[in-house]
Amino acid sequence: MSTVSFNSVRTVVVTGAGGLIGSYLVGSAFRWVAGWRVVGLTRHELDLTDRSAVEELWQRLKPEAIVHCAAISKAVACRDNPELARRVNVEVTGHLTDLASASGARLVFISTDHVFNGQQGAYTETDPASPLTVYGETKVAAERLVLAHERHLVLRTSLNAGLSPTGDRSFVEELILAWRARRPLTLFTDEYRCPIPAAVTARAIWELIRTAPSGLYHLAGQERLSRWDLGQLMASFYPELEPSLKPGTLRDYGGPARAPDLSLNCDKVRRHLSFQLPGFRGWLQRQRGIPVKDLWRPDNEAI
Ligand SMILES: NC(=O)c1ccc[n+]([C@@H]2O[C@H](COP(=O)([O-])OP(=O)(O)OC[C@H]3O[C@@H](n4cnc5c(N)ncnc54)[C@H](OP(=O)(O)O)[C@@H]3O)[C@@H](O)[C@H]2O)c1
Repeated sequence: MSTVSFNSVRTVVVTGAGGLIGSYLVGSAFRWVAGWRVVGLTRHELDLTDRSAVEELWQRLKPEAIVHCAAISKAVACRDNPELARRVNVEVTGHLTDLASASGARLVFISTDHVFNGQQGAYTETDPASPLTVYGETKVAAERLVLAHERHLVLRTSLNAGLSPTGDRSFVEELILAWRARRPLTLFTDEYRCPIPAAVTARAIWELIRTAPSGLYHLAGQERLSRWDLGQLMASFYPELEPSLKPGTLRDYGGPARAPDLSLNCDKVRRHLSFQLPGFRGWLQRQRGIPVKDLWRPDNEAI
């Protein structure tokens, strides 16, 4: 593992800028990396599977860093179209890694807790990957491509809370959409994650580009919460939607395999951050009193 100083970063490309985490990065850049040129790319602006268009843009922008958020990010979409999932999640990541490596730029790849099967929980970076899904498999394959080169970062995150430009990407939005449609929801009391506000993820990424030695890091909230806990917490912020929730258990679930405990140990990344990674419940409690419309702002003052 090598330590590289990236204090000279001036131009950063953010892929997946039309998605959840990418939009938070672009929306908070003025606050955390004022003075940098941050170029957010949506799929509409550049299809990353178009190799020659990507290379042409790279030559034009000559970025010092790239935060690669673009992905087929839903497990169901990956399962339904594994060929596309491999092309976007693995091949595109490999291509961007090669471009970054050849030009001395740093690549930050956003990966997932779904690289694990959830049988253990509190996973550290040294635990072996054990994905259950095509989504997880593609992320493991992409991580290997990135980590084969010096100077790059892989950040595995968990459920990110926030509002996306398309209104349908985060678990918060999934809940809101279900409640608006009066669709009853059953949430597992025995399936655990470490949720984190996307605005906090974005702040951390902006710091880690400069401060973190190359390698693999877990970046998630400091509290392990069940899906049921999460649903109840969110319901308390949206009473006007008359949220309807029922507790369920993985023991009664008959669908494709699910990972029961994907909680992440984030001790390693903490050493490179100037702020405490919050627990999700505590973070929400500190937001009480601010209008819900401001809760998920990328530049939320409380971050
Ligand atoms: N959000 C979470 O809770 C979470 C948790 C763990 C890990 N992650 C990882 O974090 C990263 C960002 O997640 P996210 O939630 O921000 O995902 P997202 O909202 O689905 O955004 C991903 C973006 O990538 C774009 N994209 C897909 N194929 C593309 C292509 N061929 N060329 C250019 N852009 C393309 C998508 O465009 P379209 O929408 O137009 O298809 C979308 O805007 C992903 O790698 C994801 O796996 C996210």
